Amino acid sequence: MGTMAGQIPPQFIDDLLTRVDIVDVVDVRVPLKKAGKNLQACCPFHNEKTPSFTVSPDKQFYHCFGCGAHGTAIGFLMEYDQMSFPESIQELADLVGMTVPTTSFAPAQPSKQNLYDLMDKVSQYYSHQLQNHPQKTAFENYLQQRGLSPQIIEHFNIGMAPDGWDNILKTFGGNDEARKQLDEAGLLSSNDKGRQYDRFRNRVMFPIRDRRGRVVGFGGRVLDDSTPKYLNSPETPLFHKGSELYGLFQARKANRKLERVIIVEGYMDVIALAEYGITNSVATLGTATTPDHLRQLLRSSPELVFCFDGDRAGREAAWRAAENAMPLLGGNHQLKFMFLPDGEDPDSVVRQQGADQFNALVDQAQNYSDFFLATLEAQVDISSMDGRARLIEIAKPYLRQIPTGIYRDMLEKRLAEKAEASSTMLHKHLGKAAENITKRHKKSIKSASGISPVRMAITILLQYPALHAEVGAFDKLASLERPGLTILVQILETLTENPHLTTAMLLERARGAKHEGHLQQLAQQSLTLSADELQHELSGIVQQLQQQAVEQRHTYLVAKGLSNLTAEERIEINNLNS
Ligand code: UTP
Ligand code: MN
Repeated sequence: MGTMAGQIPPQFIDDLLTRVDIVDVVDVRVPLKKAGKNLQACCPFHNEKTPSFTVSPDKQFYHCFGCGAHGTAIGFLMEYDQMSFPESIQELADLVGMTVPTTSFAPAQPSKQNLYDLMDKVSQYYSHQLQNHPQKTAFENYLQQRGLSPQIIEHFNIGMAPDGWDNILKTFGGNDEARKQLDEAGLLSSNDKGRQYDRFRNRVMFPIRDRRGRVVGFGGRVLDDSTPKYLNSPETPLFHKGSELYGLFQARKANRKLERVIIVEGYMDVIALAEYGITNSVATLGTATTPDHLRQLLRSSPELVFCFDGDRAGREAAWRAAENAMPLLGGNHQLKFMFLPDGEDPDSVVRQQGADQFNALVDQAQNYSDFFLATLEAQVDISSMDGRARLIEIAKPYLRQIPTGIYRDMLEKRLAEKAEASSTMLHKHLGKAAENITKRHKKSIKSASGISPVRMAITILLQYPALHAEVGAFDKLASLERPGLTILVQILETLTENPHLTTAMLLERARGAKHEGHLQQLAQQSLTLSADELQHELSGIVQQLQQQAVEQRHTYLVAKGLSNLTAEERIEINNLNS
C-alpha cells in the first residue's frame, strides 16, 4: 500500500507487530490501568490530571482523546523515546528476539558487518592470549590481585594484549585490505613516519559491547602505574564513546527487567559490582553522561542512580549529568544521585563493605530535586534576601528546560518555598511556560458525522480489518472517480492478500505515504455502531460502489453506440446486462 518508509520489508514489520504487544511496550514506560477492553493512563504527551490516553490491545494502537496523540508500538517508541524509525524497529525486534533483515539498512552495512566480525575475532584473540600466552602469568596475577574470579573474567570477556608492536598486525593484517580494516576498526596507531603498529600493547583488554552485544571497541589498562592508565578505542564507524555504555549489554542479559540501573565511572567498578552480584551497573567511558546515554538508559530502566566520587570532580560530573537530564524529566522515571566518600569508588566500597552495604547506599541516594535544589542553594547565601533572589535567578534557565507538567510545577513550588517567594511571583519571572503539546497533537479530532461512504468504509476496515472477508466483489471499484477510492481499493487488496493484518500493521504499511496522516485520523474515529452493524455498513458501501461502477461503465458503453463497440466490449455489455 503506497510508499513504504525505509527498506524494511512490510512482511517483517507485520511479523514484528504480531509478536510485540503494544500494551507491554507502553506499560513499562507509562503504567496502564485496565478500563473495559482497553487500558488507560494519564497522557505522557500532554499535561493532564484525568486519564484520556488509551491503549487498545485489539487494534494494537494508542490514542489520546485529550491531545490527539496516536500511533502503533513503533510510533510510540518514536514519540516517547525519541527514536528514529529504524531504531524503533530495532528496539522492538530486540525485545522479541527477532533479527531485522540487514538489507534494510544503508549501503554502509556490508563493510560495517566486516568490522563487527573483525572486532569479534580480535576480542577472542585477546581472551585466548590470557589462556595461552607465555607471559600470561603477570596478567593472571594482576586480575587475581584485583579480585576477579575466572567466571567474571569470562563473563566480561576480559583478555590481554601481549607486549610487542605487531601481534594484531601479524595475526589479522595479512594484506593491504586487512590492514585497512584494522585501522578503520581503531586497532592500529602510527608514528610520524606513517608506520603502523598495534594500538594496544601489554594491557588488560576490556571489550566494549553495544546494546546488542556486538564488540564495538576496547579499553586497555596497564598493569602498573604507567600512563595513560586506560587507553580506549578512538572514534570509529562502530564506536562512539558518547553513546556507548560499558556493561549495558551484560546488565540487560543478567536481568529480565532492569528495575534500576546504577551509572558508575569505571570499567573496574562495573566488573567489581558484578563480582558481588550487583549486575545492574553500567559505566560511561571516561566522558560525562551525554544526552544520548540518558536516552538509552531511560529506555532500559525506570530508575537511574548516578554514582559519583564525593570529591569536587565527582560533584561536577554529577551536575553535568543532571543538566543533560533536564529536558527528559517529568516522565515515568526516577533519577537519583549518590556520592561516595572522597577517594573511594564502587569497586573499593563493595570490596571493603560488601554488597549489602553498597545496596544500602544506593537505596539512600538523593532525589533529583533534592540534588538540584541543594546544588543551587550552595551557590548563594540563602539567609539573605539578595541571596534568595539570586537563587531564583540562577534556577530560571534550568527550570525552563524542564518540560511543563506536574514535575516542573512541584519543583517550582519547592524553589519558591526555599526562596520564600510565592509560586505566582516565581511563575511570573519564569516567563510563559512553553507549550508542551506539539502542533500536530493540537489538531482537533474531526467528528465522525458527515463522513463520505468511501471514508466510512476505510475507517471500518482500518479498525476492524477482519470484516474485509465479508465485503464481496470489489473488482470494478477502481474505475470510479471518488476521493479516497484508490486508498480503499489498496486496503481491500492488501487485506485479500494478507487476511490477518491488524490496524497497526495496516498503518505501518502506510508510513511515509501521502495518505498516512489521513489513515491515522480515520483509525481513531470513534465508531458507535455494533460489530454487526459495521459489517452491514461496510458490505453495503462496497456493494453500492461496485454497483455504481457497473452502471457507470454501462452508461459509457451504451453512449459509445453499439456499432462502435469492440468484440470484447460487446461481451462486457452483455455481461453487465445480465
Ligand atoms: P578511574 O581512574 O576512576 O578508573 O577512571 P577505575 O576504573 O577506578 O580504574 P582502576 O580501578 O584504577 O583500574 C574512570 C574511567 O575513566 C576512563 C576509563 O573509562 C575509566 O574506567 N579513563 C581513566 C581513561 O579513559 N583513561 C585514563 O587514563 C583513566
Ligand atoms: Mn578504581
